Amino acid sequence: MSADRLSSMSKEVKPDSISLCPLSAAAALEQELLCIFGTGDLGRSLGQRLLQTGYRVVYGSRRPHSCGLLPQGAQVRSHAAAAEPASLVFICIHREHYDFLETLAPHFKGKVLVDVSNNLKKNLYPEANAEYLQRLIPGAHVVKGFNTLSAWALQNGPSDANRQVYLCGNSAEAKEAVAEVATKLGFTVLDKGSLSSARELEDFPLQLFPEWRLPLRLAFGLTVFFFFYLLIRTVVSAYVEQGKDISFRIMASLANKVFPIVSLIMLSLCYLPGVIAAFLQLYRGTKYKRFPDWLDRWMLCRKQLGLLALGFASLHVLYTLIIPIRYYVRYRLAAATISEIRLNHTIPFDTTMAWRTDSYYAMGILGFGLYLLLGITSLPSVSNALSWREFSFIQSKLGYLTLFICTFHTYLYGWDKFLWVSGYTWYTPPGYMLSLVLPSAVMLLKLLLVLPCVDRSLTRIRQGWERSDPEDDSKNSLLT
Ligand SMILES: Cc1cc2nc3c(=O)[nH]c(=O)nc-3n(C[C@H](O)[C@H](O)[C@H](O)COP(=O)(O)OP(=O)(O)OC[C@H]3O[C@@H](n4cnc5c(N)ncnc54)[C@H](O)[C@@H]3O)c2cc1C
Ligand SMILES: NC(=O)c1ccc[n+]([C@@H]2O[C@H](COP(=O)([O-])OP(=O)(O)OC[C@H]3O[C@@H](n4cnc5c(N)ncnc54)[C@H](OP(=O)(O)O)[C@@H]3O)[C@@H](O)[C@H]2O)c1
Ligand code: HEM
Repeated sequence: MSADRLSSMSKEVKPDSISLCPLSAAAALEQELLCIFGTGDLGRSLGQRLLQTGYRVVYGSRRPHSCGLLPQGAQVRSHAAAAEPASLVFICIHREHYDFLETLAPHFKGKVLVDVSNNLKKNLYPEANAEYLQRLIPGAHVVKGFNTLSAWALQNGPSDANRQVYLCGNSAEAKEAVAEVATKLGFTVLDKGSLSSARELEDFPLQLFPEWRLPLRLAFGLTVFFFFYLLIRTVVSAYVEQGKDISFRIMASLANKVFPIVSLIMLSLCYLPGVIAAFLQLYRGTKYKRFPDWLDRWMLCRKQLGLLALGFASLHVLYTLIIPIRYYVRYRLAAATISEIRLNHTIPFDTTMAWRTDSYYAMGILGFGLYLLLGITSLPSVSNALSWREFSFIQSKLGYLTLFICTFHTYLYGWDKFLWVSGYTWYTPPGYMLSLVLPSAVMLLKLLLVLPCVDRSLTRIRQGWERSDPEDDSKNSLLT
């Protein structure tokens, strides 16, 4: 917007307006005037940010004289009076109340209207809110945008999590004007095309953790499966075979088996798709063919899989910390000591046992430390500070090391118990044995991939080399 136009606008300011903090005439001439309809949560936050960025703001309200506390420096008027001097109007009103805007159509001719609205549910209305607004006021240029930001985020300024503003609209000039404002507010603008994309933008904020859905379902399924599997193997089998009630074990012992088992399986599920992708690329002899959809989706939710796995590992660590203070454990220790005293018999120190327990504790602690490192580097503020190579080194190389150490921790925990027939209650293997299948398979496949001859081919393919298809070659030679 030009300064001349602005100065003419400032001359049009009606005397019925209320200025909450009048600006000096010289400053006002330099600043662009933007209008906001609605003095609610979003209107106020947006106004505050615009004022801080150096814009002048005029609010259009149903009750200009009694609309509550507004950002300092803003003016407030009736809707028509507020729209008149501005060429860009933010409609910070719920769609349900848009009807009255039709009566203001003559005031909006040629102006840019920014529709920031969202709905409570998907497909609540036959058309997108922005398209509805455009239908009500055909003479205006409606731009959909800012709806993916919350009032809170606007007030606090852009953060890593919401730096982007999506825009769509039919007029390129109108979109440019809105993009200029968004950029000055510190946001990155993403143009989503024409106004027909408005529904897609309105559906964005209604999505509930879309990339978390699959990992959450998987975590829930694995937890339920292993809970019942271990419940039957331990509590139910003890009751059926020995008439013993050990149901109290559900709360701590069983939980401290289910959580690490789920964690280890989910950790291996983070690294399995990378291995499958590598074999697929080797088989196809190119990296330029798209992965199947299921593999694409799996690759895209590895971060969420990993963070959930870290959550489960943290629970395991917390449960492990309380082992010494558990009533059951203290009772068993005291009973064993008393029985040794009574029998006047001391169990000799078992160095192998000491090695075994210390080793699996040490591996657990090391594995958990690396796990935490992976979690920390996945924070946007940390990953943004790393180069691609550093991030890939931590996530990929140290990630495999984490998987190896955690798997080793579990093998050491099993030790010679793999050979104990008594461990296979009702012909079923213990939970930790099942949890070892996937990580062991992933590491075995990875080992094949790092064999020099395989690694060389994979590296060439990933650098753009393609194996030519002999059939294509013969066709080509026939054609020439
Ligand atoms: C606590 C925790 C946090 C995590 N946080 C994140 C996170 O923030 N972000 C994240 O992505 N993952 C995260 N993960 C998951 C996992 O660590 C990473 O996805 C990791 O990079 C997977 O390593 P990879 O070697 O299997 O695969 P990749 O690193 O994907 O691939 C290995 C090699 O293949 C190449 N490659 C991969 N895909 C292609 C392709 N399509 N075409 C050509 N070459 C390709 C790469 O360049 C690389 O050289 C996290 C895991 C955990 C446990
Ligand atoms: N809040 C958020 O974080 C957020 C985030 C993204 C998008 N949005 C969207 O922004 C819009 C406003 O949201 P909000 O949270 O600011 O809502 P709000 O707090 O309820 O404010 C809406 C404002 O609209 C005006 N209004 C209410 N009824 C009206 C009517 N019948 N006719 C004309 N004007 C009326 C009122 O201002 P006056 O009294 O001054 O007229 C009211 O303060 C909505 O479309 C919402 O979907 C909000
Ligand atoms: C501070 C770090 C850790 C410590 C001190 C620790 C300690 C332990 C202990 C004491 C047990 C035996 C539990 C029992 O008696 O039932 C155990 C088992 C196990 N741990 Fe860890 N651990 C740690 C980290 C991890 C991590 C990061 C993983 C990876 C996912 C892991 C995976 C497992 C598995 C799968 C079992 C076998 C569960 C079972 O079936 O009993 N641990 N760990």
